[in-house]
Amino acid sequence: MITLDAIASLCKRRGFVYPTSDIYGGLMSSYDYGPMGAELLRNIRNIWWKTFVQDRADMVGLDSQILLHPQTWVASGHVGSFNDPLVEDTVTNKRYRADHVIEEWLKTHPDSGVVVEDLTIEQMGEYISKHAVESPDGNPLSAPKTFNLLFETKLGVVEGEKSTLYLRGETAQGIFTNFRNIVDSSRVQLPFGVGQIGKSFRNEITTGQFIFRTIELEQAEIEYFFDPETEDWQKIFDAWKEAMWSFITKTMGVDEANLRWRRHTDKERSHYSKDTFDLDYQFPFGWKELWGIAYRTDYDLTQQAKHSGADLRYMNPQTGKKFIPHVIEPAVGINRLFLMVLADSYVQEEKRIVLKLSPKLSPFKVAVFPLVANKPELTQKARALYDELKQSFAVAWDDRGNIGKRYLAQDEIGTPWCVTVDYATLEDGAVTVRDRDTTKQERIPVRELTAYFQKKLI
Ligand code: GAP
Repeated sequence: MITLDAIASLCKRRGFVYPTSDIYGGLMSSYDYGPMGAELLRNIRNIWWKTFVQDRADMVGLDSQILLHPQTWVASGHVGSFNDPLVEDTVTNKRYRADHVIEEWLKTHPDSGVVVEDLTIEQMGEYISKHAVESPDGNPLSAPKTFNLLFETKLGVVEGEKSTLYLRGETAQGIFTNFRNIVDSSRVQLPFGVGQIGKSFRNEITTGQFIFRTIELEQAEIEYFFDPETEDWQKIFDAWKEAMWSFITKTMGVDEANLRWRRHTDKERSHYSKDTFDLDYQFPFGWKELWGIAYRTDYDLTQQAKHSGADLRYMNPQTGKKFIPHVIEPAVGINRLFLMVLADSYVQEEKRIVLKLSPKLSPFKVAVFPLVANKPELTQKARALYDELKQSFAVAWDDRGNIGKRYLAQDEIGTPWCVTVDYATLEDGAVTVRDRDTTKQERIPVRELTAYFQKKLI
């Protein structure tokens, strides 16, 4: 199986992902997205937005702020209980999440009597002490402490008069606090959902999982509101589960053998949630949560109404009934989708590494080359073709090195088709199109090329 190191190495070499502040030695759990990564991220975002917001009559979009009124986070419970259990290596002082340390420990010390997700922080402490669980460096661990994940910042200019704000810990709360505005300013009627993509921030305690868990992350969240008296929540929940599965397998082209549903246990589930499932993906470091779906009842709207004093009830226009709607929330990280797509498409063949990305996601759909660089008649023709194809697709240009090297470079960034303009093109008006996955080549007339690629991209 492909390793995380191999993916990270390709990402750096080909401009997908770099460590943040690389020239300063990096910043903990932070990554920047290079020229290829920026394109891939954008394609993932756009496909999610099109599928779940633009293509559905029962969905609208939102773009709320990262900094919200601080009471938002008191109301949501994040200030009080958005916590992780922190343990420290007593020799190196490195910090770890207690549940992660126990999970790692169990891989070499199997114990069927423990479900890590169900342990309270006190129980984690007892387990660590009873079984002498050690840090990854083989040292004793401290007792676990709770650690709040919200990032604090200050608003204002005068020292001593600045007020505390929080960088949002999830995009969801911006949807709840805008619920009244959205209902009043658009034609939505229950059941309807609001989708949002944006940055969130979490002071995560993490080690060595590349972009899987970062302190700055991009979330794509949906809050789907409904009347629990007229709608069957289970049906809505199941329909969203199906939509999530179909998005990953059909729209993103990911192998379903690497996907599974995991239901949260009663102890693990948040107190306000009636049911929660994780859609897990088999990452190179094991099965991990990709996408969560939770039935959050009327908890968030009720909390925001209580703390703000605003009336967040919905009025049924037919019956006049006023009530706080219930909500089902499918929430995913764009960066996790990114890592999944890379892990799923990375293929090491005998003579090449190839990213067999779904063409819809590939940073470039087509690459155009002149057979050789220093022949103006070939370069001009190839450049004209590049300019023409650019009107319809994201197209790469390459005239460096030999054709074989150019193919290998495009394979590593997942470009599905390479087009070469050669001497025969000047005679017959056709070009060689080489397929990334099969490496087969065929001659296609230039005048048919746009339609040829358009058909393949449907
Ligand atoms: N509003 C619900 C919520 O935020 P969550 O399970 O904490 O729920 C939702 O986050 C999704 O966001 C996760 O399934 C995961 O894909 C992504 N995510 C959460 N924390 C992350 C982190 N530190 N780095 C990258 N992605 C993260």
